[in-house]
Amino acid sequence: MQTTEAGFEKLGAEYLQDPHAVHERLREVGPVSELVLPRGLKVWVVTRHEEARIALSDPRFSKNFAAAGDLFGKHLQPGVARREFDQSFASHMLNMDPPDHTRMRKLVNKAFTARRMEALRPRIQEITDRLLDEMEGRSEVDLLDALAFPLPITVICELLDVPLDQRDDFRIWSGTLLTDSTQEEINEAAASMYAFLAGLIQSKRENPGDDIFSALVHASEDDDRLNEAELISMAFLLLVAGHETTVNLIGNGVLGLLRNPDQLALLLADRSLLGNAVEEFLRIDGPINMATFRYTAEEAELGGVTIPAEEFVLVSLLSANRDPEKFPEPAKMDITRATGGHVAFGHGIHFCLGAPLARLEGAVAIGSLLDRFDLDLAGEPSQALKWKDSTLLHGLERFPISLSPRGPR
Ligand code: HEM
Repeated sequence: MQTTEAGFEKLGAEYLQDPHAVHERLREVGPVSELVLPRGLKVWVVTRHEEARIALSDPRFSKNFAAAGDLFGKHLQPGVARREFDQSFASHMLNMDPPDHTRMRKLVNKAFTARRMEALRPRIQEITDRLLDEMEGRSEVDLLDALAFPLPITVICELLDVPLDQRDDFRIWSGTLLTDSTQEEINEAAASMYAFLAGLIQSKRENPGDDIFSALVHASEDDDRLNEAELISMAFLLLVAGHETTVNLIGNGVLGLLRNPDQLALLLADRSLLGNAVEEFLRIDGPINMATFRYTAEEAELGGVTIPAEEFVLVSLLSANRDPEKFPEPAKMDITRATGGHVAFGHGIHFCLGAPLARLEGAVAIGSLLDRFDLDLAGEPSQALKWKDSTLLHGLERFPISLSPRGPR
């Protein structure tokens, strides 16, 4: 365990490769810990389930960063180079409290209901089948490249009517912005991303379709009209949130099954368990470790811990979902367990807009993959697997698998 000069525990690179062991220790110490993140920012991390639900939904933990002072300047540890993030993408609902949040969310809520998403099932199945066809005849693939990444990005691009030709560039830019990158890489990726999104919005202005972006660009009532920064930020949020996360649901879920052959056998024997299995994948190794930033506008007490004003508060969803007070034997994968109350999609007013879509994509992708192939990890786990360097995303950077056609069962 590393500590800073001021005596705070510093999470190191090994935390990013195996966060669960650290969470277990932190949960035992208390519900909230004052820590320094690998890139040198001091934050309060919430690790127990009950306090996580409070921090995610209680207005004392604000997301209105437009009203906050220079919190990064205040909490970066001495000697740590500051990385500037382009603010052009920041005017979105994950950085807002009501009433601004309410107005933004209302504009997109209707487009993502469970019913609307269910209507996409045949198309999601079709895209999945095409990707699986491309895997036929190969004995080894990277599951992320072959299925887990292209499925959600294709679906979200079709849903928002965004051209797919820059899909691979987009993957690189968003990966750079969300993981541990240098200032130069961030600047470059942000500039390319901005040009891409601005061009997209311009094209919707000139040639509106019946997609959500066109509707947002042309929202006519005064109340609903979004300014340019809000439009760019909304496009950024929907596209990035729409694929950076679901890729990890598919990747982590399949890895979980390979690591737990008894659970894989159970699922193969009884397909009606698939929906609950997806919830268990979300609980036990969800796509997001720490939820997005919140801060205390005023001093706040949480789980008996007093957090001063103007401090960053991060909720570890991974840790909350393995709190033994909430989920007995939390590290044990059990696709039949009661998973209700997991916080993989957050909680409260910022609860994930895309949850119905993500659940559907996860179930179709994993179910269809298992129908077609017998799978195994290709290589030694310690060599083959690498997790992303990120405290936000919990997902693999590469996931080589060997595969053979599944014989008749
Ligand atoms: C918010 C998780 C897929 C769009 C969130 C939050 C979480 C989350 C934890 C809340 C963050 C916080 O409170 O700090 C996930 C997971 C996904 C997933 C685990 C996949 C398995 C998607 C998809 C979309 C999406 C497919 C596409 C539309 C959003 C949006 C918000 C959000 C727009 C902000 C909601 C608000 O502020 O009101 N997601 N997400 N997500 N998610 Fe997802």
